[in-house]
Amino acid sequence: MIDPSIRTLAMHDPRLQAPADRLRSLPLVDDEQADEYGRGGAVQRLEERMAALLGKERAVFMPTGAMASQIALRLHADARTTRVVGFHPRAHIEVHERKGYAVVHQLIGKQLGDHDRLLTLDDLENVREPLAAVLWELPQRDLGGLLPEWDDLVAQTAWARERGAATHLDGARIWEARPYYARSHAEIAALFDTVYVSLYKSLGGLGGAVLAGPAAMIEHAREWRARLGGQLRHAWPLAVSAEAGLDAWLPRMHDYWMRARELAAALVDLPGVDVVPRPPQTPLFHVHFDASCAALDSAHAELVDEGGMRLYMRSWTTTHPDRSRIEVTVGEQAMQMPVHEVRDAVDALAHRARRHHER
Ligand SMILES: Cc1ncc(COP(=O)(O)O)c(C=O)c1O
Repeated sequence: MIDPSIRTLAMHDPRLQAPADRLRSLPLVDDEQADEYGRGGAVQRLEERMAALLGKERAVFMPTGAMASQIALRLHADARTTRVVGFHPRAHIEVHERKGYAVVHQLIGKQLGDHDRLLTLDDLENVREPLAAVLWELPQRDLGGLLPEWDDLVAQTAWARERGAATHLDGARIWEARPYYARSHAEIAALFDTVYVSLYKSLGGLGGAVLAGPAAMIEHAREWRARLGGQLRHAWPLAVSAEAGLDAWLPRMHDYWMRARELAAALVDLPGVDVVPRPPQTPLFHVHFDASCAALDSAHAELVDEGGMRLYMRSWTTTHPDRSRIEVTVGEQAMQMPVHEVRDAVDALAHRARRHHER
């Protein structure tokens, strides 16, 4: 639990930090909202709304995004003669999902492209074997929220489809990606046969995900959800909180992105600090420091103890041993934080971290 007395940069509306407050703030609930094992009520309403928003025939609630993408990839593979699925080496499914795609679904993961840059059409053209599906993560979180240019994305997805591979979107943060493309969610989703979106990241819901795609495939995905133990008795509180998030936060994404660009521009000339990407393509971007993670973390802890701003929750290493990075996601909290104060806080952190690093 985050101490509300500490000024924190990169969180959404302060309400979102306290789960109990969040639950209390939900629109008045009644029995009409209740689902039974995922059927009816707010869950069905959310599924229909998501299908319409994403321009897909049908959508199904999933307890997690990990389950949603893994099921989608297995269904694409089950309908083809290969179990090889391709994705970027830094994709969430590869890095954070404990190889579920292989252990549970017997899929063979083929890493596409280079660790430290986005996937390109050239990378795809170098693939010499049939693929059942290709997964794109938009934006690519571990690369600082990078997005491929639209024409490139169109060419890449067309390449896959022309070769009989399904296209799947890990759209956990499609909400943040949309303003950059200046296209509707449905236009972006149209490049993909199946799309997973998160209900709890920038939408601030209590948890959960949605998988959208062709009706028959989504009904089949329901079977897999049950088979994997993901059929909750009641999921409606999660659905109601996601609907509230769609209403409150979706219209704010463009403003969040603009503020991210403003913040990044204010940080970019600070000594020992770099911003990735320049300029940010989404409300999410990375700040790199000329100091190790250990030095950065101890400097940050000291500054917070002295009453300074909490700038991040955790730091990451980079490919350079003397550099570390943090992730900034602009939400309501960062919208309210004066840009010069954030700049001063980052400047102080960079200085102090450098001193720790040199000790
Ligand atoms: C890009 C991306 N994909 C998928 C997931 C998985 O979401 P879930 O926690 O709902 O399984 C995450 C979660 O952080 C994510 O960042």
